[in-house]
Amino acid sequence: MIMKGTIAALIVAAGKGERTGGFIPKQYTKIAGKALVAHGVDGLSSCPEIGGIFIVIADGQQDILAEALGDRMVAAVIPGGALRQDSVRAGLEWIANMQIFDSVLIHDAARPFLPKAVLDRLISALKLHDGAVPVLPIVDTLAHDDGRLGATVDRQGLSRVQTPQAFRLDAILTSHRLWQNGVATDDAQMARAAGFDIATVEGDPMLEKITHAPDFAAAEARLAASFVSRTGMGFDVHRLEAGEELWLCGVKVPHDMGLAGHSDADVALHALVDAVLGAIAQGDIGSHFPPSDPQWRGAPSSRFVEYARDLVATIGGVIDHVDITLICEAPKIAPHRDAMRRRVAALLGITEGSVSIKATTTERLGLTGRGEGIAAQAVATVRARKA
Ligand code: CTP
Ligand code: MG
Repeated sequence: MIMKGTIAALIVAAGKGERTGGFIPKQYTKIAGKALVAHGVDGLSSCPEIGGIFIVIADGQQDILAEALGDRMVAAVIPGGALRQDSVRAGLEWIANMQIFDSVLIHDAARPFLPKAVLDRLISALKLHDGAVPVLPIVDTLAHDDGRLGATVDRQGLSRVQTPQAFRLDAILTSHRLWQNGVATDDAQMARAAGFDIATVEGDPMLEKITHAPDFAAAEARLAASFVSRTGMGFDVHRLEAGEELWLCGVKVPHDMGLAGHSDADVALHALVDAVLGAIAQGDIGSHFPPSDPQWRGAPSSRFVEYARDLVATIGGVIDHVDITLICEAPKIAPHRDAMRRRVAALLGITEGSVSIKATTTERLGLTGRGEGIAAQAVATVRARKA
């Protein structure tokens, strides 16, 4: 899938993962239920300047990649080579052949978490330089070591270099074509050797590479620590009218009146959508699905719930729990509660145990008490990266 941006993203995922060992190569191993390579694709997808994501894989990895990606779209899957630099080169030649992109971000599938701030820093540095790399300071003492401690190396002015690395496409392609110094551990050293000007920008501990088996547990912990619990609330009211169907929590409830309004007027799902959107600070249902837009007339509100669910997934978030309160004198909600919980759980892709549905009356007071309408409140708890 090629989009508007002028930057191509190249993920190299053709390695064997020999140092981590394990049954499948590390880039297809899951962290928080998602393969490393899929984490990388999601991170790069959050960047509007990126116009296409290209993945380099080893022979025979097509099926396992397809399984890891699910319904994520990528621009092309490219066969890799024996060394990382061969895989990158294959990707670069492919991208250059397309004659669409002017820059490229080269990334290791083995670094699953991609903070958007690092991407922004790289892309803005690329406006002034031939390339840019994220770096972190070295905090430990550095020393020569052959089983006995050798001389200490002055760490002043030294940095750890991470990926993604951003380059002008012509510069990095030229550098790869010219390189004759054997094995390179990254691409920036090739660009530098070819005389290009490579800026350093602040890296991020989240970008740490998975190299050895214990790195998986460390990455899980880093991910968990980078999440905060966020709460959103929603409220909605719809008018009860004769001759309308009554939809509540995605379930058609037999009643002598139904709710009128936007879409199928499922007041509970509308409150739920606002709660989920609230938890990720993404506006409200009306800003995503304007009531004035005729395409939403009569639409099932389940579509809005699925949309909000997908927005959470796009930012790498997880819906932990939702709690809905229906406020009406009639109909009775209890007989439908189980069906409603099942339906909401299925729509959000969470367990029924994570869906609470409650009902109350207002003691015949107010609009719900007089049976003029039904109101609903919802609270959603979502785990997402710190904003
Ligand atoms: N890579 C690649 N093609 C290769 C070798 C490596 O695309 N021939 C990719 C890996 O899949 C990884 C990244 O380059 O995303 C960084 O390499 P590394 O951490 O060394 O991964 P592996 O080579 O898979 O691991 P190992 O060296 O332990 O076998
Ligand atoms: Mg390797």
